[in-house]
This record gives sequence, C-alpha cells and structure tokens, in this order.
Amino acid sequence: MDKLYTDMARVYEIMYRQFMDYDSEFSYYHALLQQNNVKSVLELGCGAGNNAERMLQNGYDYIGLDLSADMLALARKRLPLGVFVQADMSDFYLNRNFSAVLLVGRTTAYLLTNSAILNMLRCARQHLVSNGILVFDVIDAFQFLPTIQPALSLRHTVEDNGTTYWRDSVFSCHLETAWTWHWAAQYFQQNATDAPAQLLGKDDNILRSFTADEIRLFLQLSGFEVIAQYPKDSYAFPTWVFVARKIG
Ligand SMILES: C[S@@+](CC[C@H](N)C(=O)[O-])C[C@H]1O[C@@H](n2cnc3c(N)ncnc32)[C@H](O)[C@@H]1O
Repeated sequence: MDKLYTDMARVYEIMYRQFMDYDSEFSYYHALLQQNNVKSVLELGCGAGNNAERMLQNGYDYIGLDLSADMLALARKRLPLGVFVQADMSDFYLNRNFSAVLLVGRTTAYLLTNSAILNMLRCARQHLVSNGILVFDVIDAFQFLPTIQPALSLRHTVEDNGTTYWRDSVFSCHLETAWTWHWAAQYFQQNATDAPAQLLGKDDNILRSFTADEIRLFLQLSGFEVIAQYPKDSYAFPTWVFVARKIG
C-alpha cells in the first residue's frame, strides 16, 4: 500500500485538506444520492473521514471502510461516534445492506487487476439492497494517459501553520496489463524559509485509469446497469462518475 496512506497519513491529511474542496465534493455526491432517495451509505476507501464527516452531519446512516489502519485512525479521531471498518474493498463481508455504496476520490485507481475490480463489484453488490446504487469515479484513461507521455513532473505545495509541505511527482506510462501509470513521489517538509528541507518519505506506485467502455463491461458482467455517467474534473485528474443500479 502507498506510504501516503500509512507512514505519511498525517501529511496526506494536511495536503489533501487544501488540494481538495471536500464541501463541493460532498455536495456533488449528496445531490446524486438524494436523486436516488438514498438513506444508508457504505463508503469504500473512506480514508481520513472527509466524506464521512459530511455524510453524518447530513443524517446518512453511514459506515466507512478502508484498508489502511493509519487512515482509519485519523477518521476515528475526527469522528469518535462514526463506524469504520478495516478491510480490503475487494474482499469484505459486513452482514448488512445499504441503499448505496460510494467509492470516490479516484480510489478505483488502486484496483490494478481485473479480478480486484470484479471482486470489489461483487462485494459492493452483495451489500446493496435490491435496486440499490453504486456511485464511483474513475480516472479517464483517454484524457489522462496522453498528458503524461513520455513523463510529467509536478510539484504540489501547501502551507500549514508556518510549515511548508511539498510533493514532487513524476508520472510515466506503465501500460503492462491495463491503462496503468507509474507514480514516483517524494514528500518534503520545511519548517521555516531558511531551514533545510527535510525528506519525509518516498512512494513508488502503479495506478490505474479506465476507459468508460471497460467500466460498462465490468458493470454488466457484475450484475449492474448503468443509470448515469458524468464527466467531472477535480484535483488534477479528468474523471468519469458512474451511477449504476444493482439488477435484481
Ligand atoms: C485517494 S484516497 C481517497 C480517500 C477518500 N475516498 C477521499 O475521497 O477523501 C484512497 C483511499 O483508498 C484506500 N485504499 C486503497 N486501496 C484500498 C483497498 N484495497 N481497500 C480499501 N481501501 C483502500 C487508501 O487507504 C486511501 O484511504
């Protein structure tokens, strides 16, 4: 698993609070859930609880699931009354059903194999009521991969309480068995402008983007029908959002 979600979960929390507009993310998904009369939500890859906080404030019956103990520790600290489960989104059983399963923040990028995505869809389906919905986003391979060929270097910087944090990333195409790319990242902290920069850690990962057609096929093979597909641009990645209904 990425160091970003383990050793550096604290840095993730500081950086993504500024990179992401969680209020507008929540409003976007809240509107979709309301259109479908959703009352109960299971969020896969819930991370540090940024959506959880807003879900609970808005009266959803909510459970968050994540693989990382460090991310869940942040979520539990923020929301002591929240219910959070540590599990793999492709292999879990909670013994209850929800009117929606939510998987956002491009967390599908970590489903590297076809069996990982098919197992996630099987688990999600198993935890939905009849006609329940799955709402998830994917990075659009068609738009994203050409922008990182042959490689793309990026720096993301945030300030927090007088400390500067930054991440230097290099994205390059991988493409061995799916629409994957390689992400090499280094995280730094500087406590004052004249202080030396401190290397906090390095990450080296493969992530996955998808074409809309392959998502439609995965859904069809897994007992879902697509009821909506929306383009969405948020934090650096061209994204598709899918709303799919469990058949039966
Ligand atoms: C990009 S973060 C998104 C967090 C949250 N969805 C948000 O929008 O703020 C991805 C999250 O997915 C989790 N994750 C990665 N692989 C996972 C897996 N196989 N099962 C469950 N969670 C996973 C990571 O621990 C991390 O918290």
